[in-house]
Amino acid sequence: MKIIFASVLLFATVMCVKAQHTDLIANSEGRKTVSLDGQWQTIVDPYETGYYDYRYQPSANGYFKDTKPKSKSDLIEYDFDTSETLAVPGDWNTQKERLLLYEGTIWYKKAFDHQKKPNTRIFVYFGAASYLSDVYLNGQKLGRHEGGFTPFNFEITNLVRDKGNSLIVKVDNKRRRDAVPTLNTDWWNYGGLTREVKLIEVPDTFVQDYFIQLQKGSQNRIGGWVRLNGGKLNQKITVRISEARISQTFTADAKGYAEINFNADLTLWSPDNPKLYDVRVEAETEQVQDQIGFRSIEVKGPEILLNGRPIFLRGVSIHEEAPFRGGRAHSKEDAGTLLNWAKELGCNFVRLAHYPHNETMIREADRMGIMVWSEIPVYWTILWENPATFENAQAQLSEMIARDKNRAAIIIWSVANETPLGDTRLTFLKKLIERARSLDSTRLISAALERHYLDDKKTQMIDDPLGEYLDVLGCNEYVGWYDGLPEKIDTLDWKTKYQKPLIMSEFGADALYGKHGDALTRWSEEYQEDLYRRTVKMLKKISFLRGTSPWILMDFRSPRRPLPGIQDFRNRKGLISDRGEKKKAFFVMQEYYRELAAPFQK
Ligand code: GCU
Repeated sequence: MKIIFASVLLFATVMCVKAQHTDLIANSEGRKTVSLDGQWQTIVDPYETGYYDYRYQPSANGYFKDTKPKSKSDLIEYDFDTSETLAVPGDWNTQKERLLLYEGTIWYKKAFDHQKKPNTRIFVYFGAASYLSDVYLNGQKLGRHEGGFTPFNFEITNLVRDKGNSLIVKVDNKRRRDAVPTLNTDWWNYGGLTREVKLIEVPDTFVQDYFIQLQKGSQNRIGGWVRLNGGKLNQKITVRISEARISQTFTADAKGYAEINFNADLTLWSPDNPKLYDVRVEAETEQVQDQIGFRSIEVKGPEILLNGRPIFLRGVSIHEEAPFRGGRAHSKEDAGTLLNWAKELGCNFVRLAHYPHNETMIREADRMGIMVWSEIPVYWTILWENPATFENAQAQLSEMIARDKNRAAIIIWSVANETPLGDTRLTFLKKLIERARSLDSTRLISAALERHYLDDKKTQMIDDPLGEYLDVLGCNEYVGWYDGLPEKIDTLDWKTKYQKPLIMSEFGADALYGKHGDALTRWSEEYQEDLYRRTVKMLKKISFLRGTSPWILMDFRSPRRPLPGIQDFRNRKGLISDRGEKKKAFFVMQEYYRELAAPFQK
């Protein structure tokens, strides 16, 4: 009887916990935060013994209880405090040799004290955790989050103790067919608490979030909203941009929501002048601040217009991998190295593939004046028919937009990469696009589309039905690498049925830095260089091309690339090796961008 009651109670608790992570709190300044980064106690749990009992039923006394033996006879078969540690933020794969290929569960524990003040609320905030996280505080389940690349937070006001808090996270990066991404990707499945973890302290009623950007198509009218959370919602809210002598006051409604719109004479953000303003959101109970740039981004026929002027996106694709040390990138230094290499290449744009990168990277792009394509990992063939897969993809999209909607650098949201034609796929992606437009009408929507040869076998046609619903067409092509030899590029022509701008979102070839040969020797720098030369010539012929983001800035780890002595589990399509060595093709692309930049020099 006791066991049945226990499992019913447990089932009830698990079910109601499922969707409990609260709305994302704006990551703004002017708030008290406590970093929980550093060494965390961990337990590697491949059989999830800490979660399931021997009947593979969720256990009520799992590792999340952090139980200690109370007497010498007590049987407790785990102990966080004498277990090994892992650094947070950080993936686990590159911290311990034996975890390089580990896919499964690792339990993380952080003990902390926190003196709670009256009339304050406490949230625990995760920059990201890969992939499925169950979070507990002092033995109580806070909730679950799915998706390895977007932030989430839980309120812990009523659970936190002044002393001896035990925050425990079960992180599981097992791949699943119904997940997003699904089982196969061409990037390493890094697991762990890969980004910052912190406590955020706010007043009882606080500024939950805000969206402050120029209205669609305007260069002098700000539109957006502010949302409060708490008991005292009907407050006056002032948006202040002192440098521009702007102070606009609005009244939040009974739900704490205030629509904002007002004229603003501002210096517009651009790659040449990445102007950021200190923007203050002042409610009666809390005042926060953020650095926000203002720019307009639109399309007109095949043109992409930044602040009303045609622009060419001189880009490069980047994976979120740390130069030199490898593993998931997360620091300001990582972002600086990657973005400075992109600048050196001549870029004003980066495609951050295939998932939302860390916020540090986006804010660095904001500061450096680099426009960004941000993407969710709807990659290759996910389960289009599965409602839970759609909910998951839509949640990741919503979280990506929620976190970065105030970043001027982000000009494009991408909803998919190389997904196969089909009705269920189209329906799935159309719904995602509608969602993105409902959350943010100010940015462009894109995806890396399918393409096919016309009968002449020389013309690539972009008429993927998904293109109908996009602002910008994206297309990946590997003619000369997966498709024939580089000479094939010379006679290649491109067509589309859409009057829309195209970004060639991927092209390239593998080359091992330092491997030399003639231009037909695979894996040599000369092969890659020759392919780039021919591709650049081809790109110049495409009348509707308005951007390029070759694959890829830096060699990166991939489980699909075992070739010994050449790949060694790395995709070698980088223009730069993972040790920062520039390959010959880097300079071909640099020259092309120098040419392109000349007429656009303002
Ligand atoms: C694909 C894919 C990338 C992959 C690349 C490659 O187009 O989008 O994720 O790494 O090709 O094969 O190198």
